[in-house]
Amino acid sequence: MAKIVVDNISYVYPLRDGVGLKAIKNLSLEIGEGEYVALTGMNGSGKSTLAKLLNGLFKPISGRITVDGISTSDENSVFEVRKKVGMVFQNPDNQTVATLIEDDVAFGPENLGLPREELISRVDYALDAVGMSEFRGREASKLSGGQKQRVAIAGVLAMRPEVLILDEATSMLDPEGRAEVLDVVGKLNKQGITVINITHNMEEAALARRVIALRKGRLAIDGTPAQVFSSSLLEACGLSLPPAAALARLLEETCDFAAGNIIDEATLAEEICRQLR
Ligand SMILES: Nc1ncnc2c1ncn2[C@@H]1O[C@H](COP(=O)(O)OP(=O)(O)O)[C@@H](O)[C@H]1O
Ligand SMILES: [Mg+2]
Repeated sequence: MAKIVVDNISYVYPLRDGVGLKAIKNLSLEIGEGEYVALTGMNGSGKSTLAKLLNGLFKPISGRITVDGISTSDENSVFEVRKKVGMVFQNPDNQTVATLIEDDVAFGPENLGLPREELISRVDYALDAVGMSEFRGREASKLSGGQKQRVAIAGVLAMRPEVLILDEATSMLDPEGRAEVLDVVGKLNKQGITVINITHNMEEAALARRVIALRKGRLAIDGTPAQVFSSSLLEACGLSLPPAAALARLLEETCDFAAGNIIDEATLAEEICRQLR
């Protein structure tokens, strides 16, 4: 069975006078164990709403979501689902709860009432996994944006999640911070954690093995990055090509270059060299 099964769900935000805003409309999809998915789409397409539905923060008004077979609508298991599906948000500055980094990372597992030994080993593991062990005694407020997001990821990891959702977690970072976070995320995925990276950045989306695009609360495109970037629906979803793919297409139009389905810089450079030879 897939790790996450989204079966024909809808979600409505209640507005005044009994009217509601339908943010997710009859959405179905499955995400398998250990997948690396980029979730994209225009502003307002429903990405953050879907993320909150996946970790049980919101309940679908119809349809059903299961994580490892557990329904997110089951009140008795909601805590179980939240532990399995961890979330990191956009703003690096409002995700810390404690002054010191190690206390911040320990906050989640402390509330699980774990034995002290287990708590220490989880904090050690989480800080090590994001490459922040040497900062453990320092103040979170003094870190760079990328470091703050890595600490936020560590806080989630200390809960031993199976799925990590990043909701535009790199969008406020400089290129260096973005690279640091993506590097950590790639490593965690290799260790078996399922990753769902919500992003507007197509270069970042191309790092995933699967890209899902939402449009007005519905599933619009779902495929490998190469499939998605050659989809005729890309523009309708408000998405652009990753820069390397755009340049490859331009070269195809302006000279005798075969762009194929190039989406990353390394392949583009390789192909330019090969085709120039
Ligand atoms: N708290 C809220 N109350 C009412 N409407 C909301 C709320 N949050 C989001 N929406 C609306 O739901 C739709 C989907 O929003 P969201 O999931 O935040 O999209 P995305 O993350 O893709 O930008 C949008 O039309 C948005 O305006
Ligand atoms: Mg959002």
